[in-house]
Amino acid sequence: MTRPDSTSPAWDDRLLENPHAVTDKRARVQKMFAAIAPSYDMNNRVHSFWQDERWRRKAVEYAEVASNDRIIDVACGTGDLTLWFAHQIGLKRIGAKPDPAQIFGIDFTYEMLPIARAKWARLAANWDEDQPVDDDPQPSDLPFINGDAQILPFPDAFCDVVSIAFGIRNVADPMMAIREFHRVLRRGGRLIILEFSLPTNRILRGMYNFYFRQILPRTATLISGDKTGAYKYLPESVNTFIGREQMIGMMRDAGFERVEQFPLTFGVCVCYRGIKV
Ligand SMILES: C[S@@+](CC[C@H](N)C(=O)[O-])C[C@H]1O[C@@H](n2cnc3c(N)ncnc32)[C@H](O)[C@@H]1O
Repeated sequence: MTRPDSTSPAWDDRLLENPHAVTDKRARVQKMFAAIAPSYDMNNRVHSFWQDERWRRKAVEYAEVASNDRIIDVACGTGDLTLWFAHQIGLKRIGAKPDPAQIFGIDFTYEMLPIARAKWARLAANWDEDQPVDDDPQPSDLPFINGDAQILPFPDAFCDVVSIAFGIRNVADPMMAIREFHRVLRRGGRLIILEFSLPTNRILRGMYNFYFRQILPRTATLISGDKTGAYKYLPESVNTFIGREQMIGMMRDAGFERVEQFPLTFGVCVCYRGIKV
C-alpha cells in the first residue's frame, strides 16, 4: 500500500477558502491525519483545555447505551470515544470487559489505529487487574478496523449505536456517510454525531475565532511539528462546514427521526442525536 507523503503541505490558503469543495479532499484529509497521529491526543487535550474528554463523555451519555448494545465508532482516530463506550458498557456489565465483538472503531487513516489499539490493550489490562474475567481479548480481537465511513464493512441492521466524533466534517461526502450509518443501524438505533460548531453569540464567536484562527494553528503546529497544514485546515474546515440546521436536515433526509442537537461549552461543540425508527 502506498502511504501519502506526510512531509509536504496538504493544504494551501487557496484550498482552505473552502476545503470541503476540494475534489481530492479525501486524500488530503488522510495525508494530514497520518502526519499528526502521534501528537493528536496531546493537541486535543491542550487546545480544548481538556474539554474534549467531557464532550466525548456527554456523547456517550446521549447514546443511552444498554449492556448488550453493539456500537460502531466511525472515524475513531486514536480511539478515545470508542474507549469511552467500552468503559460505559463495562460499567453496565458490572465490571466485566465488553465483548470485543460488541464495539468497533473504524478509521481510514491507518496511522491512527496502532495508537487506539495500544490504548485498548492498556484498558483491558486494567480491567484484568480490577475484575478478573474469563474472556481475555488478544491483539487479534482488538476492534479497530481500517475502513471508510462512506462504505462501512458491516451488514444492514448490524448495530445499535453509530457514533462519529469530529469526523463528519472531514468526510468527503457527509450525506453518503450518514445514509450509510442509517443502513447499518437496527430499528431503535441511535446515531451520535459530535462536531465543532461556532458559538451563536457574536462576541463569543469573535473571541473564539481569534483563538481558533490566530493562536491554535501556531501552537498546535509547534507541538506536532506538522508540515501538512492540518491546524490551518481545522478552523477553516469548521468555519466553512454546514451549519447546525443543515446537519439536522441531512440526518432527517437520511431517514433519522427525533433528531436533536445538544450544544456544549457555549456551542463550540454540538452533539447531534437521531433515531432510526
Ligand atoms: C478529528 S479526528 C477524530 C478522531 C476521534 N473520533 C476523536 O474523537 O478524537 C477525525 C478522524 O476522521 C477520520 N476520517 C476522516 N474521513 C474519514 C472517512 N471517510 N472514513 C473513515 N475515517 C475518516 C480521520 O482519519 C481522523 O482520524
